Amino acid sequence: MLAKEEEFIARFAARASHASQVQSRVKKIAKIERIEIPAEQRSIKFEFAEPPRSGDDVVRIEALGKTWPRPDGGEKSVFGGITGTIRRQEKIAVVGVNGAGKSTFLKVLAGQAEPTAGSLTLGANVFPGYFSQHAMDILDPRKTVLDTVQDAMPQAHLGTLRNLCAAFLFQGDDIYKKIDCLSGGEKSRVVLATMLVQPINLLILDEPTNHLDIQSRETLLAALQNFSGTVVLVSHDRHFLRCLVNRVFEIDHGQMRIYDGHYEYYLEKSGREHQAA
Ligand SMILES: Nc1ncnc2c1ncn2[C@@H]1O[C@H](COP(=O)(O)OP(=O)(O)OP(=O)(O)O)[C@@H](O)[C@H]1O
Ligand SMILES: [Mg+2]
Repeated sequence: MLAKEEEFIARFAARASHASQVQSRVKKIAKIERIEIPAEQRSIKFEFAEPPRSGDDVVRIEALGKTWPRPDGGEKSVFGGITGTIRRQEKIAVVGVNGAGKSTFLKVLAGQAEPTAGSLTLGANVFPGYFSQHAMDILDPRKTVLDTVQDAMPQAHLGTLRNLCAAFLFQGDDIYKKIDCLSGGEKSRVVLATMLVQPINLLILDEPTNHLDIQSRETLLAALQNFSGTVVLVSHDRHFLRCLVNRVFEIDHGQMRIYDGHYEYYLEKSGREHQAA
């Protein structure tokens, strides 16, 4: 936007006919606070290897239901009767209010929890990877960032590992930091970096952007946009959803509604445009 405005000003600055427009634009952009992104943090791109291609049907879901045991010995039904197919290269957002069952659905999808009704079948050559809200706990706290990334890519050269770390914003000596000294956001970045270099073609991501700053969110967004596999994710970040997803699964009162379109389409069709994220 700034570049465009500046170009307009440069082009028309000398023309009396545009004087007032130029004036107002000069004033407008003077008011905008500019943030300088340090040069070394700018647009570090990492070329992820293509994951193996899965079959066209990635997951078949039939009459799927899940209940959790309640402390009083009863059962709490989270959802039921979910039927549908997840196809290759779909980027699906799972949405719903707090407690609707989004994380439960992802857990069942990732094989981390057993369905209590119906079935869920993975297609041919599907290699799932799961990022939970507690994904950071799988890291070994005694290892450094570099060691952790190296474990995920044992064949890679140091230069490649450094690039991967840099793409996830670990520069210079940061790569020698121990996991147990990292912040939540830094740990998330390590987990995501190591996941994205695996031969995974179904990414199941539960609120991956939660602890991430803007820059890391953009890095992850770019990686997911270029990802040739299938993505199922929960996120409350509307920008992320707008830029990424092409299908929306909404869980509402134990039922799932499927919207075959982008996030905007879902907002419009569901009438949730004016509700908070
Ligand atoms: N392991 C569990 N044992 C028992 N009940 C659970 C368990 N996990 C979730 N629940 C219950 O299942 C329901 C759905 O929870 P879930 O975490 O799937 O919701 P969510 O949509 O992910 O919510 P949020 O947006 O807050 O993350 C809640 O009532 C929750 O208390
Ligand atoms: Mg959740």
